[in-house]
Amino acid sequence: MARIGTKIQAGDVVAITGAGSGLGRALSITLGYRGARIHVSDINPDSVEATATLVREAGGEALTSVVDTRDADAVQAMCDATYSRWGRCDMVVNNAGVGAGGEIGVAPLEDWKFVIDINLNGVLYGCRSFAPKMKADGSGTIVNIASIAAFARAPMMGAYNVSKAAVVALSETLRAECRPHGVGVTVVCPSFFRTNIGKSSRAAGQLANTDISKLVDNSKVSAESVALAILRSAEAGEPYVVPMADAKVMWYLRRLAPGSANALLARGAKLMMKRGGGGKKKRKGAS
Ligand SMILES: NC(=O)c1ccc[n+]([C@@H]2O[C@H](COP(=O)([O-])OP(=O)(O)OC[C@H]3O[C@@H](n4cnc5c(N)ncnc54)[C@H](O)[C@@H]3O)[C@@H](O)[C@H]2O)c1
Repeated sequence: MARIGTKIQAGDVVAITGAGSGLGRALSITLGYRGARIHVSDINPDSVEATATLVREAGGEALTSVVDTRDADAVQAMCDATYSRWGRCDMVVNNAGVGAGGEIGVAPLEDWKFVIDINLNGVLYGCRSFAPKMKADGSGTIVNIASIAAFARAPMMGAYNVSKAAVVALSETLRAECRPHGVGVTVVCPSFFRTNIGKSSRAAGQLANTDISKLVDNSKVSAESVALAILRSAEAGEPYVVPMADAKVMWYLRRLAPGSANALLARGAKLMMKRGGGGKKKRKGAS
């Protein structure tokens, strides 16, 4: 069993939501190379199978489930299937997430619900299913994927910011509850890195989802490098992973000089509006 401070290795069990693409897939493959046994789940059946094949080719074992993390029963069934197949879980990564943009009062409530259901409730369902079993076993690590948005809180990203800030609050609470039982909790706050998140994002008003895609596509950081940073920190039992330099700057600025953080973000938003902010009122639905 993987205790706090130990590395996931051959035979260890990891369950990952949203594992069909981007970060979830990169984590699955990285752990596959170590010979881990991975419960690969995603809302998209084709991408689940594609990731599972890559895990097996890398030398890992894969169990697959099609799970919409908005469904608490489906997440519970995924947890139960992990334990009934392998009898344990050394790490769960509550990763499934979508992007969203649009000013408060402009972005439709339907988009707020969509983002909060997936980015917050989906993570909550993972925590409430896996934490009691890990606590009973006295080992394991829960990794929740938040974002720099949790503390940067840029304009026109209200729903996303709120969902990710709540994931940080949830993770900090859970960490205090789990530590006495030997279970680690790590929350991850990256800035932009290259994945398919732009495709499942919703945008409204001045922000188009092509703007979100552009920020993601132009990043120099790969999902694989973020996956490695997450594993290093989570395996060391660290509470937070803030893998990129720009995210680290905002992390310290928000704590030490919150007024300066707000001014910086306001200037960024002004520049974006001046540039046209994408401007196309383009919307796209969930994957
Ligand atoms: N890419 C970035 O720049 C970035 C930055 C900070 C945080 N993140 C976070 O990283 C996580 C992973 O996103 P990614 O960038 O790899 O995006 P991605 O779109 O490449 O992968 C997300 C996966 O989640 C799945 N998914 C979406 N809704 C789901 C649902 N309801 N149930 C189950 N699966 C669902 C998608 O099918 C997809 O396979 C997300 O939580 C995201 O918010 C991403």
